[in-house]
Amino acid sequence: MRAIRWKDGVVVALDQSKLPKKLVYLKMGNYRQIASAIKAMKIRGAPLIGVAAALGLALTAYHSKAKSREGLFRELRRTEALLRSTRPTGVNLFWALHRVMEKAYWTHGDIEAVKKTMICEALKIVEEDVKLNLAIGKNGEHLLENGDVVLTHCNTGLGTVEYGTALGIIRAAVKSGKKIKVVVTETRPQLQGARLTTFELKHDGIPATLITDSMIGYVMANKIVDKVIVGADRILKSGHVLNKIGTYTIAVMAKMHGIPFYVAAPSSSIDLKTNVKNVVIEQRDPIEVLTFSGERIAPKGIRALNPAFDVTPPRYVTAIITEKGIFKPSKISLAT
Ligand code: MRU
Repeated sequence: MRAIRWKDGVVVALDQSKLPKKLVYLKMGNYRQIASAIKAMKIRGAPLIGVAAALGLALTAYHSKAKSREGLFRELRRTEALLRSTRPTGVNLFWALHRVMEKAYWTHGDIEAVKKTMICEALKIVEEDVKLNLAIGKNGEHLLENGDVVLTHCNTGLGTVEYGTALGIIRAAVKSGKKIKVVVTETRPQLQGARLTTFELKHDGIPATLITDSMIGYVMANKIVDKVIVGADRILKSGHVLNKIGTYTIAVMAKMHGIPFYVAAPSSSIDLKTNVKNVVIEQRDPIEVLTFSGERIAPKGIRALNPAFDVTPPRYVTAIITEKGIFKPSKISLAT
């Protein structure tokens, strides 16, 4: 299932906030619509956010009526600034915007040439994402053995254009004939595991068991889980992994129980420049924690924390799988 596509100056994306109840596609003709879909997590998952942002720039280029290069770049910079402000933690957003903007700056010639190159580059990023996931799946599938029960957190399938990162490895292992079962964490407060990962696994006919986030200790202590594979929103040179809130807890528990903890991500998720002290963890509206399915669950006046991501130190990470191969966290810079 494709999470996003480009059709004649319109970006069509699955509205992930409506799944699994409704299959709704958003049709977006301008970058503002893309930005608000990212902010509202209708489009989500670090790689997919990067792809959507690249397509946001492509929309501006496609529809621009600018008469001069300066005019076009003014519109592009406005687009880039808004898209950059949507979500701070996943690095793919900044990587994709930089890649398309660089292409534009380095394209000499008339406005039409700039527009054309930008649209081509954005579409290249879309297609590359699918290929990268297939390569991650191929590189990682032999880490899984026939009969393994794999725990995954959040959603790493629809968080890409197609196939997925951690989910791509599970899919590749199943495709190669291994019997794999998956334990899916619900992933409060947005329930990406309960709503999206179970939806994808059911679609593929891969056996899935849903647990609440607080059952991690139980499933590990009771030897229900053999391996863990999660995605990443940003991986630092030091090997620290930023991923969905709760990942750190899972990684520490996995280490305590001698369970391998793998991270799967494309090389566009690697950030060699930022120090762990300077990473920005997105803080979302506490209302997401204070409510469940639109109903308030805590008394009025109670405060809530809502960090969307956490940081897992490299000592808890067994290996990181990218399209380039399998790396120890301390060697992740070799994957760029
Ligand atoms: O807040 P989200 O749903 O955008 O967070 C997504 C995750 O944390 C995923 O695990 C990660 O981006 C990998 S998606 C291939």
